[in-house]
Amino acid sequence: MGTLPLFPEQASTFAPEVDHLLYFLLTVAVFFTLLIFGAIFYFAVRYRRRSDQELPHVLHGGMALEIVWSVIPFGLTMVMFTWGASVFFRESRPPDDALNINVVGKQWMWKIQHMEGQREINELHIPLGRAVRLTLASEDVIHSFFVPAFRTKQDAVPGRYSTTWFQPTKAGKYHLFCAEYCGNRHSGMIGWIYVMEPQDYQNWLTGGVATGSLAENGEKLFQDLACTNCHKADGKGRCPSLVGLFGKTVQLAGGGTVKADEAYIRESILQPSAKVVAGYQPIMPTFQGLVTEEGVLQLVEYVKSLGPKPGAVPPMEGTTGSTPRNR
Ligand code: CUA
Repeated sequence: MGTLPLFPEQASTFAPEVDHLLYFLLTVAVFFTLLIFGAIFYFAVRYRRRSDQELPHVLHGGMALEIVWSVIPFGLTMVMFTWGASVFFRESRPPDDALNINVVGKQWMWKIQHMEGQREINELHIPLGRAVRLTLASEDVIHSFFVPAFRTKQDAVPGRYSTTWFQPTKAGKYHLFCAEYCGNRHSGMIGWIYVMEPQDYQNWLTGGVATGSLAENGEKLFQDLACTNCHKADGKGRCPSLVGLFGKTVQLAGGGTVKADEAYIRESILQPSAKVVAGYQPIMPTFQGLVTEEGVLQLVEYVKSLGPKPGAVPPMEGTTGSTPRNR
């Protein structure tokens, strides 16, 4: 069936799974549609009124029939539910060893950052056979990252991170679409996914202009924005040290805790007063409008790179911050 022009190529581990589920749903839907329409036509002919005096029999009850037509659809919908949920859960949980790539949707293009520092627009190069996790952000409105050959579609929503993942099974070039209407050039927000042999991918990664890794770019941005004035590595600054922060649980002023994940670090840069670390003052200004989503992702990557290191200074847990310049 995969060769039918109705279906896009199957190029990820999810593709056959999603297709099998779809075939099942289609089969059930077609079977019952035919059954119902067949019964309608058959009964219309078989029980048509043959004379003006003819009156229909009135039937009362039919427990066996009631049970049959309740239990069979219930069973079928439960199969749909559990099967669909299991595919959905697998699509929702990237494996730990997945290759992380950042994607920012923007009217009207996809901007992509690889951890090693490579950037591309409307193109994504990935190695064959390796699980790839995308962290999606949006600079403006909702976009949706859709790769039909992978059977993957995930919204990029302004103000938050979303993730998706896939594992390509076939080298080649595949369509990338924006699947959420996002303005008058929505239809032009298209691109290509290049699935390369691992060796070719390595060559591609090392070729091109080296601009430093994402974490290095984040560190540079961290210095340019003068974040270092407050966030001192030894924890003696006016803002918490970020060393060893990533993945930790942070105590907040006014009670409560939060896990220092990507979303928390992003929020702390853009809305610093939303979650203030216990023992610190809400003196950090917002960087909303001063840093692009790509920049925020670089900063997040930098904070990750400072991430928990065993034997380092005791973790100073905290929000991101900067010098309280008046902006
Ligand atoms: Cu972006 Cu439609």
